Amino acid sequence: MPRDGLGFREFERRLERERDSWRFRRKDADDRKTYDGVFDRDNLLRIYKLFSDGVIDQVDFPISTGKEGNVFRAIRSDGTFLALKIYRTSTATFKEMAKYVHGDPRFKGVTRNRRKLIYTWASKEFRNLQRLEDAGVRVPSPVSCHKNLIVMEYIGTESSPAPLMRSVTLEDPEAMARKLLDYVRRAYQKAELVHGDLSEFNVLIHEGEPVIIDVGQAVLLGHPLAEELLVRDMGNMARYFSKHGVGIDVDAELRRIRKR
Ligand SMILES: Nc1ncnc2c1ncn2[C@@H]1O[C@H](COP(=O)(O)OP(=O)(O)O)[C@@H](O)[C@H]1O
Ligand SMILES: [Mg+2]
Repeated sequence: MPRDGLGFREFERRLERERDSWRFRRKDADDRKTYDGVFDRDNLLRIYKLFSDGVIDQVDFPISTGKEGNVFRAIRSDGTFLALKIYRTSTATFKEMAKYVHGDPRFKGVTRNRRKLIYTWASKEFRNLQRLEDAGVRVPSPVSCHKNLIVMEYIGTESSPAPLMRSVTLEDPEAMARKLLDYVRRAYQKAELVHGDLSEFNVLIHEGEPVIIDVGQAVLLGHPLAEELLVRDMGNMARYFSKHGVGIDVDAELRRIRKR
């Protein structure tokens, strides 16, 4: 999708075609459902804005299609890759999201309007990425946020996105556990954030190193859910690593994380 001189109609037609070819390639029976709400007119216009602002030059292939949105690989004009996450504005998990946004002083006064809440969610994820990166937690570096679209560093190789921790065999599970616990501590002490959905499903392994993703639900320490979510995150880590022969003393770790 080159952007020079491409009018919206032409763009829309081309994206339609690309979407059809993705559909064609993927044999999922529920493909139609998968893309519903992602490539509607509004989102096409927003992607178009990313093109005209020079943030991205092309939308590459879909990396993941989830309940709340899709992640695509995107290509910059210099040929390097980015990741584009698009939240569905018709998401079924709206109520869940509200729980994490209300109670965050950064987003006081956000209405109960569904569309606005999704925009807030995307900007919350974007800002959380920034805070975590500043605190020295390895996350995809945030690049840009526009309404329900987030552009961030692409984690992976030329040929494929990095695998989830759950689907790789760790060479040194103990070292991995130590790194992740250090990230949880940095997130807490420096970024003052609790991830809230930390598990082997939200850690990518890239060149042997963990990269934490999916931080939309992460909450500030003052949030009423923060402590409960921290305990849950640690429980997930302990459960996962115990299956790989690494014991984590959750109480001791929690004390260490909370000691500020
Ligand atoms: N920056 C990224 N680089 C490469 N792949 C990514 C990136 N962000 C997300 N992904 C892939 O997309 C999937 C879904 O992203 P995630 O942020 O976990 O959203 P959700 O779980 O809510 O669908 C991830 O499991 C991962 O495989
Ligand atoms: Mg996820």
